[in-house]
Amino acid sequence: MINDLWYKNAVIYCLSVATYMDANGDGIGDFQGLTRRLDYLQGIGVTALWLMPFQPSPFKDDGYDIVDYYGVDSRYGTLGDFVEFAHGCRQRGMRLLIDLVVNHTSNEHPWFKEARRDPKSKYREWYVWSKKKPRNAASGMVFPGVQKSTWTHDQTAKAYYFHRFYDFQPDLNTANPKVQAEILKIMGFWLQLGVSGFRMDAVPFVIAEKGPEIARPKEQYEMLRGFTQFLNWREGEAIILGEANVLPDTDMEYFGGAGERLQMMFNFEVNQNLFLALATSDSRPLVKAMRATKSRPATAQWGQFLRNHDELDLGRLNEADRETVFAAFGADLDMQLYGRGIRRRLAPMLQGDRRRLELAYSLMMTLPGTPVIRYGDEIGMGDDLHLPERNCARTPMQWSTEPHAGFTKNDKPILPTISVGPYGFQHVNVAAQRRDPNSLLNWMERTIRMRKEVPEIGWGDFSFISTGTPQVLAMRYDWRNNSVLFVHNLSSEPREVRLALKREGEADCILANLLSDDHSRAEKGAPHHILVEPYGYRWYRVCGLDYLLKRSDT
Ligand code: NOJ
Repeated sequence: MINDLWYKNAVIYCLSVATYMDANGDGIGDFQGLTRRLDYLQGIGVTALWLMPFQPSPFKDDGYDIVDYYGVDSRYGTLGDFVEFAHGCRQRGMRLLIDLVVNHTSNEHPWFKEARRDPKSKYREWYVWSKKKPRNAASGMVFPGVQKSTWTHDQTAKAYYFHRFYDFQPDLNTANPKVQAEILKIMGFWLQLGVSGFRMDAVPFVIAEKGPEIARPKEQYEMLRGFTQFLNWREGEAIILGEANVLPDTDMEYFGGAGERLQMMFNFEVNQNLFLALATSDSRPLVKAMRATKSRPATAQWGQFLRNHDELDLGRLNEADRETVFAAFGADLDMQLYGRGIRRRLAPMLQGDRRRLELAYSLMMTLPGTPVIRYGDEIGMGDDLHLPERNCARTPMQWSTEPHAGFTKNDKPILPTISVGPYGFQHVNVAAQRRDPNSLLNWMERTIRMRKEVPEIGWGDFSFISTGTPQVLAMRYDWRNNSVLFVHNLSSEPREVRLALKREGEADCILANLLSDDHSRAEKGAPHHILVEPYGYRWYRVCGLDYLLKRSDT
């Protein structure tokens, strides 16, 4: 029964329809193009897709400004094309998650237009208004430096409206039961069309109290139970993966004590500390973050990631640590964003160093939870810092050496493809990498394959093993009498470590290397003596070369 929790041992891949594959040659990716790429996605082994918003939108915030929750933007195709695509996913056994952006609408949404035009409209109460400019109007911006205020005056409404994000994204009054009912309806609609759940945008803001008098908004956590309960009445396997960059001591509020709220959350705490660990070659910040986010209900799961479509948010690190990460991975001011993050893609941050890229992905895939891979990262795509804000890391997928990376036949792609420098599509593309057995793409495919065969990571309990040096992280997972052990050397020097396996029956155990023939045997009772090359990593199954046979039925 518990194995029905598919998200506990999944590999999620996120992409934007707009920049993935253009089939009709208008320069904009579409569902038909994406459908043609499903075999590629199945081939690399991902088990679920997360699509960024594709509903009709003026596209001022990459689609996170929606004007119709029940449709497909005509640039991407029709609802029919979506259904064909969803069917294609199902045929290949891939699950589909879509973004659920209900903290706010676009200011061009008919609900908002109606609400501002007519104070008596039923939609007036769907948004958050104030006659006077609230005292705290200049605080709480999510995009500081770009966004000036959280309350903007509307001439037509003759009132201020609240917007946690840009001024063209008025917040929905999510405490209003009618708005909540509409949110359920939106979820029900897409479930009926075949999705297995939602990546819920901006969860802490969705559930926060909103209003002109509210200085310290309290979260209404129980709202989440309402959403999830509805979801599971309609479709047992459906989940919500929450975007909630919150302090670890509130995690359980989001998951719910018995897992009755969110099934999954992105682990932002681990994400930022992982980059700090990579920047300093010191595993301690990562260990601390993993410990802080360890407890979660049995059915809940973390989404572990490296980069996403936003900036790498370092806002929860202290200033000195943030500066350290900036210095290592985004030293130029132009690489930084909103005073708190880095807007680059992973490969250029790690200077395209294959050893460091593998290390970062190996870590991400062996962290407690389910890995979430950003499109293009499987081939080490770069960024275009000429593009504004976060767009620099949202350029079209690089398929081949054809013009515009084979993304479109049109001369004007929606965003320029990267065509110069070491990350240009002439050098970094899928076609070339699939021919090369040693490419990052083929490494990724092999690693994903192995990751899926190690369900202990998603299901088990982790613990750390002392290595005597903070540069080398060793952790093990134990689940159903099976154990796996991972060793990562974060430093640019080779390191020799001694690992003592202390559990019963492990005294003369073999550590079977899951990725190569380099197994480790120890004298009875003696610690394992392991030499790890610079930025090296090891995946071991504890006790036994017959690693597949060793597994109990999962
Ligand atoms: C979070 C999304 O990840 C980001 O891209 C977007 O700008 C904001 N929410 C507003 O929807």
